[in-house]
Amino acid sequence: MPEIQADNQTTQRRVDDLLGQMTLAEKVGQMNQVNSGDEHAVAHLRSAIQAGHIGSVLNEVNLETINELQRIAVHESRLGIPLLIGRDVIHGFKTVMPIPLGQAATFNPDLVREGARVAAREAATAGINWTFAPMIDVTRDPRWGRIAESLGEDPFLASEMGVAMVEGFQGDDLGSVGSIVACAKHFAGYGAAEGGRDYASTNVSENELRNVHLRPFKAAVDAGVRTLMTSFCDLDGVPASGNEFLLRDVLRDEWGFDGFVVSDWDSVRQLAIHGYTENDEVSALAAARAGVDMEMFGESYRHHLPELVDRGLIDIAVIDAMVANILRVKFQLGLFENPYTDPADLPPIADDHALETARTSALQSVVLLKNDGPTLPLAADGLSSIAVIGPMADAPCEQLGTWIFDGDPQLSVTPLQALREMIGERVDIRHVRAMETSRSRHSTAFDEAAALAGSSDVAILFLGEESILSGEAHSRADINLPGDQAALVRQVRAAGKPVIAVIMAGRPLTLSNIVDHVDAILYAWHPGAMGGPAIADLLLGNESPSGKLPVTFPRMVGQIPIYYSQKNTGKPPSPETIVHIDDIEAAALQTSFGMTSFYLDAGYTPLYPFGYGLSYAGFHYGNIATDTDEIRLGDTLRIGADLTNTGPVAAEEVAQLYVRDRVGSVTRPVKELKGFRRVGLEPGQTVRVEFELHTDELAFYGRDRQLAAEPGDFHVWIGGSSETELRADFRVLDSL
Ligand code: BGC
Repeated sequence: MPEIQADNQTTQRRVDDLLGQMTLAEKVGQMNQVNSGDEHAVAHLRSAIQAGHIGSVLNEVNLETINELQRIAVHESRLGIPLLIGRDVIHGFKTVMPIPLGQAATFNPDLVREGARVAAREAATAGINWTFAPMIDVTRDPRWGRIAESLGEDPFLASEMGVAMVEGFQGDDLGSVGSIVACAKHFAGYGAAEGGRDYASTNVSENELRNVHLRPFKAAVDAGVRTLMTSFCDLDGVPASGNEFLLRDVLRDEWGFDGFVVSDWDSVRQLAIHGYTENDEVSALAAARAGVDMEMFGESYRHHLPELVDRGLIDIAVIDAMVANILRVKFQLGLFENPYTDPADLPPIADDHALETARTSALQSVVLLKNDGPTLPLAADGLSSIAVIGPMADAPCEQLGTWIFDGDPQLSVTPLQALREMIGERVDIRHVRAMETSRSRHSTAFDEAAALAGSSDVAILFLGEESILSGEAHSRADINLPGDQAALVRQVRAAGKPVIAVIMAGRPLTLSNIVDHVDAILYAWHPGAMGGPAIADLLLGNESPSGKLPVTFPRMVGQIPIYYSQKNTGKPPSPETIVHIDDIEAAALQTSFGMTSFYLDAGYTPLYPFGYGLSYAGFHYGNIATDTDEIRLGDTLRIGADLTNTGPVAAEEVAQLYVRDRVGSVTRPVKELKGFRRVGLEPGQTVRVEFELHTDELAFYGRDRQLAAEPGDFHVWIGGSSETELRADFRVLDSL
């Protein structure tokens, strides 16, 4: 600790010393992030950097150019301040990992940390020292295209995974080679965009904001994330990039954040488009006052802040504090010691470790949703032919998913390639793509596919969404399988052979129209470069599926938002109180059906709940017990349950811990995830899964806006999904 304090003091002295030498224009220059571009733009960049007008460049990945820009900054600008080089390294750089939503499905923070570490090293090789990741917006809307980039619906899971990513990018020592600055985004509320329509307004109460959406950001700040990015959204009438409550009251005053905040792309100037300011000048003023330290693209700061300071509309002390936030990170990154990159100091791109990490991540991200029979794993010994059908079977780019600016599709191994490589000598792997893209319509190729299925032992349909159908500004109102994929499923089904669906997508899709027409479903998200071998390993039973859903799967789009940690309502539904629209009798107009909270045409349950995922093993949970029935505030409860592998194979299971606070000063969710653990079990093996729960982990923001746990009665569950019913109870008493 004393060492860290001394480091902090030295850094602060260096920051103060530098600030003392800076002109106002140079200060504002540090707050300016510009986009790179073609040669012409780079030439322009050089002179702007020489003049001290630029603090950071984004979207430059040519190492020679970057080293040259750093040289100009260090040797040709008056004060020699090096540059931050930013890039969206979202789920891998060259070696693409599963999309973040898939990574969340691993419930494996160690693996997620390693994925980010690999990405950081590869990005660092190109001279990048700052990634705009992780995205930790909690979202409960699969229509939102950016759900692909998210870590799912749950604040606890998003916190654990988000922190793991921050640790992976930044490493133990930010100043060491291969560490890059992380950026927790988008602060805040973006994931609650109305109707899942990207950039739409967000209307969440402060209580919901604090208890759900801000949680992962607080965790990232506590874990030492060095930068945050604002959100594009209008949050309860105040766009996030001009939101003083978020950026000053919460982030600085309550949380003590000492890194810096960057706007999202041009979101400062967009304050005027929102109708929050009159023009760019007022936007610059509003954003700076609110606490946006650096403007990404737009240059309203550069054009207007100096004059706003001269006119006394913004205090120079405010500017100094913002510039200090930026310089602090540059010092911590070690840029002043060495701004240059020598790839020889780093592992080669896509080395064995990177590919292995991508493969394990893909493997653990896949969720087995259905397995009648069981149909899976395939008994490859007994098979002579497999029909491989569908638009995603051999689509090296599509399996990578959204946000892969630098991803190398040449590294992709598709499921078709992997199956051929693994069993092609023994088993006839036949392939009909049947659809050019996931959006294609019915064609004669469907007949060919059905004929192929009919003449094979089994049909595997590789379905889903192309990568372009999710991501930023790629929301969908209908989240069924696009195109005529459902018709393809039915036609192949009619051939009479076992049908397995492997679905690659950037979001939960509504699968109600195909679920009864297939025997098994592996949900693979967009699994990244090594998706093929990982999926083949699962199909063939070399490995057992172990992913769990980080987000609820609705039956139909009208159920959205549907998530496990909902409130109880005053009229909670139950199987006895609901009725289906088809079962209403003509004369029953006056019937009240129990008056509970459900849909006549969709009930109240999802198709698959949060935390759900099957295995080739069978897992049984029993004997839940707490070490005591009562604890005091400030104490720790121990909870355990026996977990037995009742199946025929060794496998990993993600054991999950949920609690319910029965009564609160504000109402509490019916279940909240509070812990999880990946456990490997041999057939027949039983282990005791133990969790510790400190009462601080029961804390929530009440009406007084304070974070505190409240005494009272609690339920606690352990199990394999959010629907677990294995429960114990305990009571929390006031501290003595
Ligand atoms: C996105 C950010 C991203 C930025 C830079 C914006 O449109 O919202 O998440 O980091 O662009 O590419």
